[in-house]
Amino acid sequence: MIWNRKKPYLAEITSSKLLSGKYSNKEIMHYEISLGDSGIYYEPGDSLAIIPTNDHNLVLTIIDRLDVNSSIIPDGHNSSLFELLMSHYEILTPTNRLIYFINENIKHHDLNMALKSDNKNLLNEFKYGKDVLDFINLDKNFKIDLNIFLTLLKQLQHRAYSITSSYNTYPKKIHLTVSTQRWKNNLRNYNGVCSTFLADKCFKGTKIKVFLIPNRIFKLPKNQEKAVIMIGPGTGLAPFISFLQERKFLGSTGKNWLFFGAQTRINDFIYENEILNFKKNRVLQKLDLAFSRDQSKKIYVQDKMYESRAEIFQWLEDGAILYVCGDALKMAKDVENMLKLIIEKQLDCSEIKSLEYIKNLKKEKRYLLDVY
Ligand SMILES: Cc1cc2nc3c(=O)[nH]c(=O)nc-3n(C[C@H](O)[C@H](O)[C@H](O)COP(=O)(O)OP(=O)(O)OC[C@H]3O[C@@H](n4cnc5c(N)ncnc54)[C@H](O)[C@@H]3O)c2cc1C
Ligand SMILES: NC(=O)c1ccc[n+]([C@@H]2O[C@H](COP(=O)([O-])OP(=O)(O)OC[C@H]3O[C@@H](n4cnc5c(N)ncnc54)[C@H](OP(=O)(O)O)[C@@H]3O)[C@@H](O)[C@H]2O)c1
Repeated sequence: MIWNRKKPYLAEITSSKLLSGKYSNKEIMHYEISLGDSGIYYEPGDSLAIIPTNDHNLVLTIIDRLDVNSSIIPDGHNSSLFELLMSHYEILTPTNRLIYFINENIKHHDLNMALKSDNKNLLNEFKYGKDVLDFINLDKNFKIDLNIFLTLLKQLQHRAYSITSSYNTYPKKIHLTVSTQRWKNNLRNYNGVCSTFLADKCFKGTKIKVFLIPNRIFKLPKNQEKAVIMIGPGTGLAPFISFLQERKFLGSTGKNWLFFGAQTRINDFIYENEILNFKKNRVLQKLDLAFSRDQSKKIYVQDKMYESRAEIFQWLEDGAILYVCGDALKMAKDVENMLKLIIEKQLDCSEIKSLEYIKNLKKEKRYLLDVY
């Protein structure tokens, strides 16, 4: 059976627990999901797509603001407005179409300036943290026809999560590691659609719509003797737990090196016992930990890479595969810059040469990224 966005599998959540500590700035959750008789088989590196529903209270607030009845069936639809806003439309993140429409129909100096400017940062700064409701409320007198409003929304998207388990170790089960996205300003609390759908609406026994997103590139080597270096701060750790479970199951002889980073050891060292056991059992030959806020000067995974630059370089020279997972905006770029620097230092070469070295690693599929 093939499950996809149009035909998702209804999978049961079998357990959920908070991984991050009481005083963490993060809310990192571990979910276990049964694949039942779906026939879904996954490999380390694959992701699971989850189709969420929207926050019930936000739906009602938007309907109230539009000053319409929640049970009406909008033109061209078969479901009530309430149903459509719950399950069909993305109602948190505004589309550019909606933003431009609002700008044309209200007088808002800052929004107008941000849209006119060539400097894209201005618009990003203006948009940051604001949702659809905030944009509608930029002018309390702004009124919008319901049918037009719906055309300015996009379809509710599924969200991808790196699978944290290995199928061989947990047959017919999938584990996920999800950072719940919540933020607030003086007036409102905001919830990321899918991560808070999971955290607040899904419990043991809840069924959720899922389908597999295979990743043909971010894969363990077929050769069990190959060494791997895994760099995964924050939720970037997720696929590497799967990698390590799989390598343990297969009895791979290739060496494994993990770089993990988080804010504090006491609150944010997720999967601590499992990782330390991998180390104790020699599944993991090397473990480098960067707890950024445990000392006055921040330490990141790339600082740990620099400390071990000679050894990393030697592993790469010996054919190791380097994997990076997690934040695309800053971390992955900084890690790549560090890799470049390490190569320059070790080869005593120019930037051009080290960039060529990295290009070659990519060509040989020995530098693989899964960043978001
Ligand atoms: C291949 C892949 C694998 C992934 N794996 C994982 C994983 O293993 N674990 C994981 O947790 N995530 C993972 N993600 C990210 C995940 O798919 C979602 O993007 C994430 O959970 C947020 O979705 P959401 O629906 O909760 O939030 P959304 O409704 O999509 O809202 C997110 C948006 O909210 C805004 N926002 C969030 N926080 C703030 C803030 N503090 N202040 C202001 N604005 C804010 C930002 O604009 C952000 O883009 C992965 C993504 C991809 C593509
Ligand atoms: N697309 C999405 O919707 C989505 C989903 C999940 C996460 N994210 C974003 O991705 C980022 C990482 O989130 P996360 O929860 O996975 O990790 P995280 O817990 O925020 O960070 C993990 C560790 O990485 C450190 N770090 C910060 N900047 C870094 C950099 N440039 N290079 C290396 N390490 C760095 C952090 O240090 P400090 O915090 O002490 O600086 C922390 O110690 C966040 O900005 C988060 O909002 C986005």
